[in-house]
Amino acid sequence: MAGRIPQQFIDELLSRVDIVDIIDARVPLRKAGRDFQARCPFHEEKTPSFTVSQNKQFYHCFGCGAHGTAISFLMEYDHLDFIETIKELARQTGMELPEQSSQPQNSQLPALDELMQKATAYYRRQMKEHPDRHNAIHYLKKRGLSGEIANEFCIGFAPPGWDNIIKLLGNSKITTEQLVTTGMAIRKDDGHCYDRFRNRIMFPIRNRRGKVIGFGGRVLDDEDKPKYLNSPESPLFHKGNELYGLFEARQALRNIDSLIVVEGYMDVVALAQFGVRNAVATLGTAVTTDHMNLLFRTCNDITFCLDGDRAGREAAWKALDTCLPLISDGRQVRFMFLPDGEDPDTLIRAQGKEGFETLATNALSLSSFFLDTLTREVDLNSLDGRARLVELARPKLKNVGNPVYRLMLIEALAQRIHIDPHTLTQQIERGTPPAPTHYSAPQRRPQQAPGSRPSAIRIAITLLLNNPQLAQKVAQPGHFLALQEPGVNILVELLELLHANPNLHCGGILEHWRDKPDQRHLARLARQPVETPEDGLEAEFLGALMLLEKQLLEQEFQELNRKEQETGLSTEDKHRLLELLRLKNSLR
Ligand code: UTP
Ligand code: MN
Repeated sequence: MAGRIPQQFIDELLSRVDIVDIIDARVPLRKAGRDFQARCPFHEEKTPSFTVSQNKQFYHCFGCGAHGTAISFLMEYDHLDFIETIKELARQTGMELPEQSSQPQNSQLPALDELMQKATAYYRRQMKEHPDRHNAIHYLKKRGLSGEIANEFCIGFAPPGWDNIIKLLGNSKITTEQLVTTGMAIRKDDGHCYDRFRNRIMFPIRNRRGKVIGFGGRVLDDEDKPKYLNSPESPLFHKGNELYGLFEARQALRNIDSLIVVEGYMDVVALAQFGVRNAVATLGTAVTTDHMNLLFRTCNDITFCLDGDRAGREAAWKALDTCLPLISDGRQVRFMFLPDGEDPDTLIRAQGKEGFETLATNALSLSSFFLDTLTREVDLNSLDGRARLVELARPKLKNVGNPVYRLMLIEALAQRIHIDPHTLTQQIERGTPPAPTHYSAPQRRPQQAPGSRPSAIRIAITLLLNNPQLAQKVAQPGHFLALQEPGVNILVELLELLHANPNLHCGGILEHWRDKPDQRHLARLARQPVETPEDGLEAEFLGALMLLEKQLLEQEFQELNRKEQETGLSTEDKHRLLELLRLKNSLR
């Protein structure tokens, strides 16, 4: 999504707004030293631990760990998505969203959109008019669907035949191309096109505004394969960002205070028919972070409803991974497992709304599911088993965004396995051992074992985030890339970014990493207070860089030493070795 708005525009926008104004308009702030404070709007607290730095254009809550830029704040607080937030900020600052930049991609959207609505109407009409409609109607009846619910979900019928939709809508080269773009038609190698959906029950997938953006099509006869065909990714349709049934749930309910995530189209429809109106389904994919953000923007209480079998538990374990960084106070994730061989559709038909809801109330909390799964995996009676448990738990726990919640999970785990919580915390937090030599495989992220000194790279990045103008002190960032140290690529990218955009502040920098894997690490460093007084910053920064220079020399020196032992040195190598010795001495 972020790709559609040019980064330059976001940079400019962020240079014009002040995070303090934006937050203060919603949560009154009090000045506290150089920063501003308030009681955190994202969790319940009595004493303020929510801090806004004007200098960094960044907020951070020491209580619940919530943090981010002006953009993140609006997304969280006003429940907006990224584009909506940018629009809102642009409106406030009187900036015009760049039209032409989004034109090439976007100009076709209205036409694609129209095409999808026409296709939907066509499929619905076929359910009433097509000579083969009885097959479709018979199938839906057999599945127990009421006409009313089929109507509400706009369920239709794609009749048999290779070119129904092409004949109807693809009457020019352009429209045929559009059919291919939306995946309604498929182009063969010889250039000819045919309908993707043939002789199938059609489930339209609607976006948050109710527009159909894709379809799921089910065969009428279970012998036919594949059982479901789905629209492919298209400019209109991004699976990882859409939930089947969310629009319908919003239509049916005034307030949504919880959502149930199920696996199938039929499940959503059947649940709705029996009065469970808050079910949504992912579209044949695992739940993504985008899905979770969308769910949490709607409500704070999410239940995953899955098969009780092995596959279901594995899917749940994956979903848990996706949820951990996003859990914070007030947000709840639960897991409900269905009896063997049942899915929500069969279960609610057999046991009714009450039966389903009884099961739902017994859903496992995220922490119970987490602990159950972990303790089930290992033999707690053996020393090995316990060690393995810590290993299994560690990466998950490290992923938990909220520090209070992490502690709570650690304590609960300690209790389950009868270990002193303090010891377990230490074992968990100890983390991976620090990289022993410069030759270990380069790691991608700056990591620091608690208690050890922060690396020079980490110091340099932290100082840059606090004082971006320091970047101008480095003439050639690229040459640090030779250094085999974790985080060096981030440092170089950051330096190069700041060379190109000398006016970026910390918040602006973080927006360049939005949705990228290293964003969390940078945000963590951005939160680190810098104790150095203003006039000592440059010296400290240059000191860190000097250390990196030394490490570069040392690395090359070691490489030559190794080469000497393995294959011997050329004359040139020997000269370089002497030079390195001299340089090393001069830097001491
Ligand atoms: P299931 O196989 O559990 O189907 O797939 P279901 O929802 O119970 O369907 P019915 O009851 O047999 O009609 C769950 C979901 O996985 C995706 C679909 O989104 C489906 O709803 N799926 C399944 C596919 O995309 N393709 C397939 O071939 C099968
Ligand atoms: Mn089913």
